[in-house]
Amino acid sequence: MVRVVALANQKGGVGKTTMTVSLAACAAEAGARVALVDLDPQATLTRWLAPSLDDDRPTMYDLVVRPDVLLGDILRETRSGLLVAPATIDLAVAPSDLQRRLRGVGLWQTSLRPKLHAAPDLDLLLVDCPPSLGELTMLALVAADDVAIVTNCELTAFDAMQDLIACIDLARSPGLNPELRSLGILPTMYDPRVGHCRQVLELLRTHYPGQVAENVIRRTIKLADAYARNVPITEYDRHGEVTESFRRLVREVLYVPQPA
Ligand SMILES: Nc1ncnc2c1ncn2[C@@H]1O[C@H](COP(=O)(O)OP(=O)(O)O)[C@@H](O)[C@H]1O
Ligand SMILES: [Mg+2]
Repeated sequence: MVRVVALANQKGGVGKTTMTVSLAACAAEAGARVALVDLDPQATLTRWLAPSLDDDRPTMYDLVVRPDVLLGDILRETRSGLLVAPATIDLAVAPSDLQRRLRGVGLWQTSLRPKLHAAPDLDLLLVDCPPSLGELTMLALVAADDVAIVTNCELTAFDAMQDLIACIDLARSPGLNPELRSLGILPTMYDPRVGHCRQVLELLRTHYPGQVAENVIRRTIKLADAYARNVPITEYDRHGEVTESFRRLVREVLYVPQPA
């Protein structure tokens, strides 16, 4: 049975896409059968791992809007071996097109959740959410078994977190996804030399006790370099310190075992 994990934050630039790709790569390395779902119309994840989408095959827009399109129809194998359900800018209008088709009935429950959970031969699906609390994020929260909050270590992100938690609570409403579990808060872009970062991490731990991951991801330009080379960090900097942190974080929050 596949486990669907949504990585969310309505703020852009806090490290969601980088976290999604890196955790997926580490989980795959540990032997899990993993696929990535790009639910952001800006398609950063797709540009990272599947940069040349030059054919007419369906994408996430079609998966959300067309009942006849299944996950297997859109998954692409990428250079690094990771499977990706790619997005294009069309995805931005998928919720309104879907709403027109379903006339609002069963909108959240029917369009994505059953399709992701029907994924054959997969252990883990990581969903990279867009930077908004709009319909696409709601689709992800209703489709997911677990949600993880990705955040940088800045006060602006800390201040925005209450709104995201309220949105997660809304997704737990009866009839939507009352079973949605939380994997907690995953801090990234942490720089121990910067007082602001240390204070925000402290604030997070005080305000959300027991919910902040132990393995905090530090700031490194190597993640941008990995993007530039269209590979995950596990390939670009196999033995790097931050790569090891992602491996530990996978074991901590996704419980993916390391091979003996
Ligand atoms: N741990 C990190 N250290 C340094 N830069 C990072 C880190 N994580 C992400 N970045 C960079 O920050 C920018 C935004 O990251 P991204 O993952 O695209 O955020 P989001 O998906 O939340 O918009 C990118 O340029 C990315 O390379
Ligand atoms: Mg992103």
